[in-house]
Amino acid sequence: MEDILILAIESSCDETSVAIVKNGRDVLSNITQSQIDIHKIYGGVVPEIASRNHIKAITYVTEEALQIANVKLEDIDVIACTYGPGLVGTILVGLSYAKGLAFALNKPLVGVNHIEGHIAANYIKYKELKPPFLTLIISGGHTHLVYVEDYTEFKILGKTRDDAIGEAFDKVARIIGLGYPGGPKIEALAKQGTPNIVLPSMNLENFNFSFSGIKTAILNMYNKNKEINKPDLCASFQYYVTESLLANTLEAAKKYNISKIVLCGGVSANSYIREKFSEVCKEKNLKLYYPDIDLCTDNAAMIGSAGYYNYIAGKTADLTLNGVPNLTIEGVIF
Ligand code: KG4
Ligand code: ZN
Repeated sequence: MEDILILAIESSCDETSVAIVKNGRDVLSNITQSQIDIHKIYGGVVPEIASRNHIKAITYVTEEALQIANVKLEDIDVIACTYGPGLVGTILVGLSYAKGLAFALNKPLVGVNHIEGHIAANYIKYKELKPPFLTLIISGGHTHLVYVEDYTEFKILGKTRDDAIGEAFDKVARIIGLGYPGGPKIEALAKQGTPNIVLPSMNLENFNFSFSGIKTAILNMYNKNKEINKPDLCASFQYYVTESLLANTLEAAKKYNISKIVLCGGVSANSYIREKFSEVCKEKNLKLYYPDIDLCTDNAAMIGSAGYYNYIAGKTADLTLNGVPNLTIEGVIF
């Protein structure tokens, strides 16, 4: 088969990212302009400000991605772009740009589900990884336990009923005054603490999750006692959420007889979660996969990889493709 060069765009939240990816697995460039510094003064992403900054960044990020990959626009075979889930205004910036490129170059357009992108981040690191496998998508917007039957076929086994896990990390960090984004800050402080504070257990039936109870418990605890040991609180929070992730994942692996576990999403950058999963998977004879740190959070390389598998499955879009802020992945079985 001939090589397929994809130009991929990601703009579903506060990262403007453009990548050039060959055959779904080889990243020739992956340029990301993060807006974290712009939004941190507000304690979270402000959608309108995010959209405006995507507009400012998209052209030069694209130019840099082409330059680093040493390819010309005419060499590109397919344009892939996130079309959901995410913030509608920010998605539309990337998508309109992608449509413009597809139209001008007369090349196919592929709309990519951002969640599928997070899963595909693992195909970049592990060239041998192929479905079927079980994946745990843990990010700022999502907490999904998914059975990946094939590259473009998914069955959601469970998901959060309230806050996403990354959202819980960010909210807990805000409550105790650590700032945004909270995940890496909680991880760093937890390293100096011991998980000795009892917090509510969270697992729900049918492989579902809930993270708002533990956040509220921490809010109440902190309001009652501002002198509470923050490193211990962070270590305890991290301990309990990890136990919850592990319990559902292991049970699903057993029920569906799956031996490959794939972590992805921003929260899979967390070293405690990685270590704990590594330890337990080794014990249970399960093979664990997780992306390199820079491919855990939002980036266009993962969109290029997922875009490739959609393209070869014939799932292309036309120029009427719209942004879908609450897009899900197919095959819900509960
Ligand atoms: O995947 P992502 O970039 O965006 C979404 O698609 O939602 O994930 C961002 C989330 C944020 O909530 C951030 O706090 C969290 O990932 N995160 C972490 C770590 N690094 C990023 N959470 C825990 N530990 C980390 N080291
Ligand atoms: Zn994401």
